[in-house]
Amino acid sequence: MTAVIRCGLNDDALSEAVEKLRRGELVGLPTETVYGVAADATNAEAVARIFAAKDRPQFNPLIIHVASLAQAERHGVFDARARALAERFWPGPLTLVVPQTDSPEIARLATAGLDTIALRAPAHPIARAVIAAAKIPLAAPSANRSGSISPTSAADVANELGDRLGLILDGGRCEAGLESTVVGLIDDEAYLLRPGAMARDEIEDVIGPLATPVNEDAKRSPGLLTRHYAPRRARVRLDADSARPGEALLGFGALDWSTVNLSERGDLAEAASRLFAALRALDEAGYASIAVSPIPAHGLGEAIRDRLKRAAEFPVRESHESP
Ligand code: TXA
Ligand code: MG
Repeated sequence: MTAVIRCGLNDDALSEAVEKLRRGELVGLPTETVYGVAADATNAEAVARIFAAKDRPQFNPLIIHVASLAQAERHGVFDARARALAERFWPGPLTLVVPQTDSPEIARLATAGLDTIALRAPAHPIARAVIAAAKIPLAAPSANRSGSISPTSAADVANELGDRLGLILDGGRCEAGLESTVVGLIDDEAYLLRPGAMARDEIEDVIGPLATPVNEDAKRSPGLLTRHYAPRRARVRLDADSARPGEALLGFGALDWSTVNLSERGDLAEAASRLFAALRALDEAGYASIAVSPIPAHGLGEAIRDRLKRAAEFPVRESHESP
């Protein structure tokens, strides 16, 4: 079966998506960060289908997408810091990991049996419309096979999971192009669990300094596998001044030449929004190696460098199999 792609702002497409979700089926849908594969988070079988579709071997906890802080507070305990961040940045590309409430309704599989829960209210109008109409929280990881690059267009989703989804809502290209920033607020320390589409400084302006988990503490963020975001064939070489013969150059800033430039004007937001699509395109063009210009580490550069580092660490993927 190949997925049907429908324009997501069309009323019929929206109601079809909502119907499928309520029946426990999977739907590919756009968010402002990347495309997600969504399921009813209160339905364990539906959630299990997500893991199967993605070939995700371990039951990593999923982000639960809600419409509002009020809906989020049914499932998670928001302290003053969590509430301040949600009030300031939701809807938007920020995921908050907080303790779960006593009667969370959420399928245990969605939170991998942890006593914490990751919640986010996405800003994309299609995601918002679907969540509002379905009246259920949606578990939605990025709509790629495990270990592969996150999709930033409906066509990317069809490429990754097309034979495993009945419906993909098309909302055009994702604006941010990088996954949400994940912040852990389960004890006195606030942790930056995953750098992402919202820069660290914006968050620190509201709640003060974010700690970095030592060695990406698996207990705090089990899904942060190193081998992630990897192209299928191409190697990735970081901080390159130029390309070697046969190599693609993924450029950043004013350059005489590059195969693809993430942002000629050196704009990190523009680079973030183009990153995954560029890696995908160069990989599909058959390059054995992709050299990447140095990307500054400040602002969104932190998340861009994080994804590139992960892509570089495991150069060759033989198949869709996960670690
Ligand atoms: O932008 C995004 O966040 C996208 C769109 C679709 O919303 N979703 C996404 O989901 O990136 P996923 O499943 O690919 O990443 C979820 C991240 C993982 O790093 C996971 O470990 C972390 O969130 N996470 C989820 N629940 C957690 C929890 N209870 N404690 C710690 N980390 C958690
Ligand atoms: Mg992902």
